[in-house]
Order: sequence, then structure tokens, then C-alpha cells
Amino acid sequence: MRLRRRLFWAQRPGPPIDGRGPRAYNLCPFCGRLRAAHPLMATALTVVILAAGMGKRMKSAAPKVLHPLAGRPMIAWVVDQALALGPERVIVVVGHGAADVEKALAHAPQRERITFVRQEPQQGTGHALQCCLPALGKDPGVVVVLYGDMPLLRVESLGALLETQADAAAGGAAILTALPDNARGFGRIVRFEDGSVERIVEDRDATPAEKLIAEVNLGVYAFDGRELVAALPRLESKNAQGEYYLTDVIAMLVRAKKPVAAVELEDIEETIGVNTLADLAEARWVLQMRILEEHLENGVFIEDPATTYIDHGVTIGVGTKILPCTVIRAGCTIGKGCEVGPFTQLRAGTVLADGAEVGNFTECKNTRVGAHAKAKHLSYLGDAEIGERTNIGAGTIFANYDGVAKHKTKIGDNVFIGSGTVVVAPNTIPSGVTTGAGAVLTKNSAVQSDETWVGIPAKPLKKKGH
Ligand code: UD1
Ligand code: CA
Repeated sequence: MRLRRRLFWAQRPGPPIDGRGPRAYNLCPFCGRLRAAHPLMATALTVVILAAGMGKRMKSAAPKVLHPLAGRPMIAWVVDQALALGPERVIVVVGHGAADVEKALAHAPQRERITFVRQEPQQGTGHALQCCLPALGKDPGVVVVLYGDMPLLRVESLGALLETQADAAAGGAAILTALPDNARGFGRIVRFEDGSVERIVEDRDATPAEKLIAEVNLGVYAFDGRELVAALPRLESKNAQGEYYLTDVIAMLVRAKKPVAAVELEDIEETIGVNTLADLAEARWVLQMRILEEHLENGVFIEDPATTYIDHGVTIGVGTKILPCTVIRAGCTIGKGCEVGPFTQLRAGTVLADGAEVGNFTECKNTRVGAHAKAKHLSYLGDAEIGERTNIGAGTIFANYDGVAKHKTKIGDNVFIGSGTVVVAPNTIPSGVTTGAGAVLTKNSAVQSDETWVGIPAKPLKKKGH
């Protein structure tokens, strides 16, 4: 397995490709002006994402595009790329695991713009586009095609592709190409002697001489929609895989004297296509660095990016410190001036209010930790609410699961939970309470404010003078 450990600092972040922010539908994603005022965006735009393939090389039962990548399925990253272009609509071609892929996108941003087309059986990338013909109609404007297994493309690269297509003479197309270290598996760009694009040959169909071509097809195209829909019905499947290749449309356009321009991507990192689990791990690494850079730019202190895992969509307030060997999963919200780690895992539903500190070997799940509350050592905090300035002693466990269902623990403000306390849920511990070291609070202990509970099972200590 080849994991590129490239220098973290060498990477420059681009704007997030997630369809949020200024890329509102009627604004140009590149200049921020109204689309109508921008010649490039004045043409209707449809993005088609191909996501029907089974992904045999993943050796996994799940559809390839649903494999997790930094806290979300791979396809979600590609949908973000599509939406960032401000298209009228996004067509997602689904087939293998279609219902699961549709479900995974049920809450995608701008869901009303997304439609699904089923491809059954899957007979190649060209066939996938043929299945879209009824949806595309006769004149779909510009059609951008993205493959569901290319999650790292930046919106700037897609913008360059669109601009090149718009600059081409009528009926022209633009394709993204690259010169990766290893061209194996990619389709190769065959050029005429004058340097113009002639056709794309698939790795499996290439002659030994064609296999030596370094320039590869990334599977990202911008077509004049009318030319595309006219060419698709004429595709043939005479090739090594007996499939209808979308790549053959390029040769058809060239034969019809339509201009085909290649836009070469320089950042090899963007070109990683996910075909195997090793590719998936490499793609995750690249996305992880992008996510961490965004937090660093926002004023989050991350001591060691190499051992910090933060999923997509986590918000972290300014001045928060993330210490090494920490995992923060999707669905966490962290306030300002917090400290997390080292060796901490925050799982979905964790909320840290400002100034909260969660440290060494502590796991939180579906838990709100109040402002300036602390849980610094060896704890499991699941399904809980913890008040302000409460201290959770080393080794505290919230026993939230009774073997059948999960239950909640509520802890008030200024509580002092002694080391090694077990709180069996459901339980409510009001403000000002103290528990002794090693106390076991059985479920629904009727703890009153300001009491001290000790022992196994824990009982309230009699106050002096009573
Ligand atoms: C494809 C390109 C190749 C390019 C490479 C870039 C073709 C014929 N080849 O090869 O030139 O270098 O991508 O990554 O297009 N899909 C469907 N339906 C199908 C088949 C595939 O929706 O019937 C989808 C897959 O889910 C995947 C994408 O299309 O998201 C690409 O398919 P894949 O089989 O990975 O193509 P490659 O062999 O990588
Ligand atoms: Ca692929």
C-alpha cells in the first residue's frame, strides 16, 4: 500500500467545496456576481454524477460511493462539488445499492435540485449517460459529468473546465487530464501529431505503446449538451469489457470536427480516484489535511495534525486546543477556549460549551459538557448532560446501557464527581452534589442538591449535627 505522507505545510487550502456560503444558487461560484450577469453561467447547467457501479476492486459488499470518507459517504463530497457549480439540477445515476445511495442523499443540501436515474444493469459509463437521456431532453445546456469516485476535485478545477468549454467553439467539449506518477488503470489521452486530442483509450484496451502515454483521463467532462445527447445513442460496446464507454464520445466529437480541449490538473492530489480501499485511505488523508487547515486558519490550535482526526462538518470555536491522538467524529460541536485530548474520542452528538475540557482517554457520545466543566482523565460520558463548572473525576463511567436500551444521565452545575464513580442511568444529580471516590449510584438514586453520596450502592452522607 502506498500512502503518501506529504508535507502538511506544503498544501494550500482552497475554499470548501461543500455548496455552502456565498455559492447561493443565483450567484456565480467564482466571482460572486449574479449568474445572469456572467456570460459563463448564463447557459443552463446540468451536472450528472455517475454512481451506479459496484466497485468490485473495493472487495466490499457496500456500494463503492457509500464508503465513509471523513465522516460522510464518498458520494456526499462529489455532490458538494456539483452543487458548488450552481447547476440547475444534479442527476445522480444509481444502480448498485441504489436505494441505499438515494437514502444517503435524502438530506443533502439543495435536495430539491437533485434527481436520481436508475441504471440497471450497469453496462458502462456511456450506458449510465444513455439512461439519463429522457431526463436530459434535447437541449440540456452545458452538461458536466463527474464520477462518484473522484472526491478530491476542487471547485476551482471544475471552474477551469467550465470556462474552457465555454471558450471552445460551438459544440465543443472540455476534459480534465493529469500526469500522475502512475497512470495504471486510467484511460490514456491519445493526441494527434499537432497535439490536439484524438480519443481516449481505456487501460484494458490500450496497446503496449498506448500504455506508455503519461497523460490520463480523470473522468470529468464538460459537454455541449446537444452534442452529447446526439452522440450517446451511437456508442458501441466493442471493447475489452463489452461496455458502453462514455470516453468514446470524445472520439465521436473529434470525428465530427468539434473542438475538444484538455485542461491539465497540476495538483496530483486532486486526481486520486477511489477504486480500492488503499485509494480510500489515501483520499481520507488528503481530505483530513484540508479539514485541519481550515480549523487552523479559524484559530483552532492543533498541536499535531498527523495524529488528529476531525471529520467533516465539526464546528470548533476560536482558541480551542486540540491535543495529539484525538478523534472528533461528525456531529460534534465544540465551543471557544476548550481543550480536547490528548487521546480523546468525541463521538456524534457531543457538544462542548465554551471553556469545557475533556482529556486523556475520555470518550464522549451524545453528551453536552457545560461551560468550564472538566473531565480530564479516563472517563466514559455517554447520553449525558453535564452542567457548568462541574468536575468529573478520573475514571468516572456513566453506565448508559442496560443491555436493552440507552438511558440518560443529568448532572447539574458545580457538581464534584469523585474519582472512579459509576453513575447507572437513568439518573439525575442536581447542582452542588459531591460523590465519594468509587461511589456507585444505582439508577434513579433520589439525589438532592448539595448532598454528598458515597459507597456501593451509594447513599447520602448524614450531615453533621443531624
Ligand atoms: C473511468 C474512465 C477512465 C478514467 C477513470 C478515471 C470510462 C470508460 N473510463 O475508468 O478513462 O481514466 O474513470 O477515474 O469512463 N459507473 C456507473 N455505471 C456503470 C459503470 C460505472 O455509474 O455502468 C460509475 C461508477 O460508479 C464510478 C464511475 O462511473 O463512479 C467510474 O467507473 P469505474 O468503473 O470506476 O471506471 P474506471 O475503470 O475507473
Ligand atoms: Ca474509477
